[in-house]
Amino acid sequence: MCGIIGYVGKRIADRVLIDGLKKLEYRGYDSAGISVFRDNKIELFRKVGKIINLETELAEKGLNSRIGIGHTRWATHGKPTEKNAHPHISHSKKIVVVHNGIIENYQQLKKKLPASYKFISETDTEIIAHLLEYYYIKLKKDKNISTQNKYLLAMQKTISQLKGSFAIVIMFSDNQKEIFAVKKDSPLLLGIGINEMFITSDITAILSYTNRSINLEDGDFIVISKNKYKIFDKDGKETNRKINIAQIDTNVTEKSGYKHFMLKEIHEQPQIIEDIILTKINRENNEINFRDLNLSKKDINNISRVIILACGTSYHAGLIGKFLIEDLAQIPCEVDVASEFRYRSHNRVIDKDCFVIAISQSGETADTIASFNEIKKLKPKNLMICNVINSTLTKKADNVIYTRCGTEIGVASTKAFTSQLCILFLVSLFLGRQRNILNDKRYNEIICELLKIPQKMKNTIDSITPVMEYWGKHFYQKNSFLYLGRNINYPIALEGALKLKEISYIHAEGYPAGEMKHGPIALIDENMPVLTIATESNVYEKVASNVEEARARNGKMLVIATEGNKIIKNIADFVCFVPKTLDILSPIINIIPLQFLAYFIAEMRGCDIDQPRNLAKSVTVE
Ligand code: M6R
Repeated sequence: MCGIIGYVGKRIADRVLIDGLKKLEYRGYDSAGISVFRDNKIELFRKVGKIINLETELAEKGLNSRIGIGHTRWATHGKPTEKNAHPHISHSKKIVVVHNGIIENYQQLKKKLPASYKFISETDTEIIAHLLEYYYIKLKKDKNISTQNKYLLAMQKTISQLKGSFAIVIMFSDNQKEIFAVKKDSPLLLGIGINEMFITSDITAILSYTNRSINLEDGDFIVISKNKYKIFDKDGKETNRKINIAQIDTNVTEKSGYKHFMLKEIHEQPQIIEDIILTKINRENNEINFRDLNLSKKDINNISRVIILACGTSYHAGLIGKFLIEDLAQIPCEVDVASEFRYRSHNRVIDKDCFVIAISQSGETADTIASFNEIKKLKPKNLMICNVINSTLTKKADNVIYTRCGTEIGVASTKAFTSQLCILFLVSLFLGRQRNILNDKRYNEIICELLKIPQKMKNTIDSITPVMEYWGKHFYQKNSFLYLGRNINYPIALEGALKLKEISYIHAEGYPAGEMKHGPIALIDENMPVLTIATESNVYEKVASNVEEARARNGKMLVIATEGNKIIKNIADFVCFVPKTLDILSPIINIIPLQFLAYFIAEMRGCDIDQPRNLAKSVTVE
């Protein structure tokens, strides 16, 4: 979603800003802009579309400012136009701001300003610039307040009016040395360099300049200059915050020879899963080791119910988690889309013996944060499964297990999903073991098969790539797809359909195979590809019957089946074989062909695979 970068220091600011904005491209955006000083005046440069448009315009300007702010915008209030792009400038052009988040009461606030304040954009952000100026002009007249305090007081007064979430970065036209910022419920961090300082919403933007950063806390105000930074807490008291040293992995933002990040990330999956398994399982006794999970055996035995909260792909992982938790730990489990959960009334049905698991790749998803905040009021035991270290959700949870799959750049989630599945699998096994549900024999059989999964994933990638490329060429012109699965592979149908929608813009629907005859069967004719996950399981025969039903309506039957299945060819038009494994582990393998299929179809259609239209990597607004 929106991205922020601010810079003050020894370098030419617009170059640093453009470089940083490019690193933020993966988050999804539809316009971009920067603001720097030229001839002692604040100037704005904004463009719709890709950053390259902005970069091309700036190349001819010969700018020399050593201070500036920049933004990538993902439209919420107002279309992606130049006027709506950030930065936004105040009424008399004294103050310029970039903003992530949403100001919910911007319409009401507009009415409070004098009529002379003209609004140029349709955004909720512009009000911030005008309000700041309104207060700053008043404060400027007061001889008893120091200039620096005037900036901070104007910010404090403005912020006290705002409802919603925000990370705001500000420059004042009468101050070419400092950048100001404030945050609430939207990430913002300070980067500390040598003779230079940065401010950003995502560390990726500044990692090529510095690995030293400070995560700001809600209510923090900051001031940065070339050699100095100051942080004030929500009460205005100057404060210190811990400096983090990031591990710079240059591989993260490189495609390493792959055409797209998504393709690279699909290929990384076997290694990631192997790393997770080997760090969490003690190979001497096969026991699972969750050092960070602060739950006693008694706590675990007392769990009455598990509630999983997540959005998008993480929600699909949660749906699979339900099967695993109910099967391996025999605890009832429900899974909720976070945006739905947050507005339901739960007080009556949630008690302290519920165990809440929130799942999020980014740890910044607004709906997941809000639903987690809601449920935490009821004080259940809780766990966060997350990829991004120190993200907002990880700070709210009592227990955190990191998926550690590395930065996921492709907007369509792939490696984050399989790593979430692997963690959920281990958590379920761990709970089952602690509750004495799994005897040694079954437990060891499962672990033994789990250890083979990375190699099976590798084999799957090798064997199915050409098959999916062929399917992609064959089906890329279709308008619609139906994905079917049953039991633990029903969420895989949902996830496969989501991948196709996201990156190829083809309509795709995931459905429980047995439910097809209750409606979607009406859609099936010779133009409808029906992709069914029919790997070996206790419902295989049932799924095969569903394939027959769809075939009888002339659907084009694409089937994911287990190697060695000799009869599937009789009922399928196209078959993709995957290695045999336990049903409870099959989703982690079965998703791979569906990721590839979406990829190859999108490639054939010439889509922007890593940055699909309208999508954002982390959805930080409601
Ligand atoms: O960062 P999160 O896991 O909380 O994100 C949730 C969804 O926004 C995300 O999974 C989204 O659906 C992806 N684009 C899926 O590929």
